[in-house]
Amino acid sequence: MSERVIVNFQRKPCYDIVLDKGFDSLLEELELLQYLNQKFVIITDSNVDAIYGNDMLSLLESKGISVYKYTFQAGEQSKNLDTVKNIYSFLIEHRIERKDVLLALGGGVVGDITGYVAATYLRGIDFIQVPTTLLAQTDSSIGGKTGVDFDGYKNMVGCFKMPRLVFINLEALNTLDERQYFAGFAEVMKHGLISDLTFYEWLIENMYEICEKDPDVLMEMLLRSCNIKKVIVEKDPTEKSVRALLNLGHTIGHAIEKAKNFELLHGECVALGIVAAAFISWKRNLLKMEEYYEIRDMFVPFYLPISVDNIEPEQILAYTKSDKKMENAHIKMVLLKKIGKAVIETDVTDQEILDAINEIYFSEEDAYA
Ligand code: GLY
Repeated sequence: MSERVIVNFQRKPCYDIVLDKGFDSLLEELELLQYLNQKFVIITDSNVDAIYGNDMLSLLESKGISVYKYTFQAGEQSKNLDTVKNIYSFLIEHRIERKDVLLALGGGVVGDITGYVAATYLRGIDFIQVPTTLLAQTDSSIGGKTGVDFDGYKNMVGCFKMPRLVFINLEALNTLDERQYFAGFAEVMKHGLISDLTFYEWLIENMYEICEKDPDVLMEMLLRSCNIKKVIVEKDPTEKSVRALLNLGHTIGHAIEKAKNFELLHGECVALGIVAAAFISWKRNLLKMEEYYEIRDMFVPFYLPISVDNIEPEQILAYTKSDKKMENAHIKMVLLKKIGKAVIETDVTDQEILDAINEIYFSEEDAYA
């Protein structure tokens, strides 16, 4: 039986975020959007295709929808313009028209690429997000950020294109490997840290159930987390102001991701970046020392890293400068005033950033100390 819960955008961009324990009620949503006579192209990756590709095809076909499927190799290394080009060729070959619909079935890479293709193919066609990882369910599928990496720079080419629907099947989290699951949790924790102390405390209280993927706790967690993201995106869809708060942990996180050649998962780098940002916040007397240590240590039970080895701190600093979050040549960094309240600062110095990187850097010397 469907246990569907819906988070509505009340203002532009208007679309529903539907949470359910199964895929079946997706059909009702497609009917509401008057999509049943359109052609669909499912865009997915090799991992997700092996688990859900055929089920999704059959589900859509059961309503008589004409549906095609395009699958690319799973992994961040596919998030580039070559994959976009191959998808354009597939769409042209299958005569996909402007009224047709793309369905992104997968994690953040699938959602970002599909959104970018939807924004640019025939000057824009509709797409819907069916995120299957925790990271995509709580963050990347909501808010219309689309794009690809370019020359090793994360998400360097892209645009805003809102999906017409985000459909979250919580059961997909049961087929997600543990490392991916906990990496996604970093973004959930981020939502509590930037804007909701009560939610942050709830996450700590429900730590055991979250680690065990208790279905009701996951439903509440995602509902609250998606709602936080929705409220911020609604206020500032194209990141002119408050939406930048969602970048907590991402300046140093993206730099580590690049320096480690994407060996660490995005969420793992975000956890490291949040620890570094909290450290700077403590050193600026925005946070108390105990708050810094509490934030750092709360990642541990969720199997997220709080230190990283084999990096060059100076190189990480240099990479932070090529991040998209620069303003007038200053790094725009999100810091914490307290748990549940973030601020955007543009005067963080290189030395502060370097000190924070050294704080999370686990060197060989530390190992023998
Ligand atoms: N992931 C941050 C944002 O959507 O703005």
